[in-house]
Amino acid sequence: MINAAVTGACGQMGGLIIQNIVKAENLQLSAAFDIANIGKDAGEVAHAGTLNIPISDVRDMKTVLKETGTDVLIDFTIANATVQNAPLVAECGVNLIIGTTGLFPQQRAIIDDAILKNNVSAVISPNFSVGVNIFFNILKQAAKYLPDYDIEIIETHHNRKKDAPSGTAMKAADVISEALGGKEYVFGRHGIAPRDKEIGIHAVRGGDIVGDHTVLFAGDGERIEIKHQAHSRNMFASGAVKAAEWVCGKQPGVYTMDDILGL
Ligand SMILES: NC(=O)c1ccc[n+]([C@@H]2O[C@H](COP(=O)([O-])OP(=O)(O)OC[C@H]3O[C@@H](n4cnc5c(N)ncnc54)[C@H](O)[C@@H]3O)[C@@H](O)[C@H]2O)c1
Repeated sequence: MINAAVTGACGQMGGLIIQNIVKAENLQLSAAFDIANIGKDAGEVAHAGTLNIPISDVRDMKTVLKETGTDVLIDFTIANATVQNAPLVAECGVNLIIGTTGLFPQQRAIIDDAILKNNVSAVISPNFSVGVNIFFNILKQAAKYLPDYDIEIIETHHNRKKDAPSGTAMKAADVISEALGGKEYVFGRHGIAPRDKEIGIHAVRGGDIVGDHTVLFAGDGERIEIKHQAHSRNMFASGAVKAAEWVCGKQPGVYTMDDILGL
């Protein structure tokens, strides 16, 4: 049995992740961390039934991880929390699944460095859905064939999302840019803003939209739109839990969903 812990246990994703761990055959919840609801039962907060696992204060993370024999920790919180917590997790020899988005490159470098220095394994992905990772691969192919088309990325999410543009939109831009040998990004346009050869990135926020991403390749006389729409957040959670099972026993290193899906 793999012992899996969750940070951000009281969040929307944390709750779904705990529900998926409870249903998984090869994993069990070993610990749960947050800055809210300390001491409450993690299963009850996550609507997953009573699990007799209290939500621990993140400040006790190292002690709790050691006491509970945790093998892997799944972190869906906020960038400033992940950059502080992930190195502590790695120092405990615990593998990591990181779904938090909005990490700056310097924050990502700190996390990668801690993972490699401590010889643990991690999967870091702004999107743990299978469909989105196939979408990235389709974008890579399309970009290679349409290098002169104007490219715009439009993402739409619920009104509670904190970061913009989404991590998935940024990853889509990076995949396309890499396929085309490097592109400038322009985030929204306002006033006099003539279009150049950049990738335009636009964030829309409203209601309870789970997450839509459309990539427009527009040429003279035609356009292609490649779209992914998430209907529920559960596929992110189930993907993260599958990644947790996959990463245990892998060679130390930082992996992506492409590695898990064999893409
Ligand atoms: N990679 C993916 O597939 C994917 C999918 C959906 C969401 N996300 C990302 O996951 C993150 C969480 O999303 P959410 O909708 O669950 O947010 P949320 O606001 O519902 O939950 C975040 C949780 O983190 C906790 N938290 C804040 N600071 C903390 C700290 N220092 N230590 C421990 N816990 C802390 C909060 O109390 C809260 O319970 C966001 O970055 C979001 O963009 C990623």
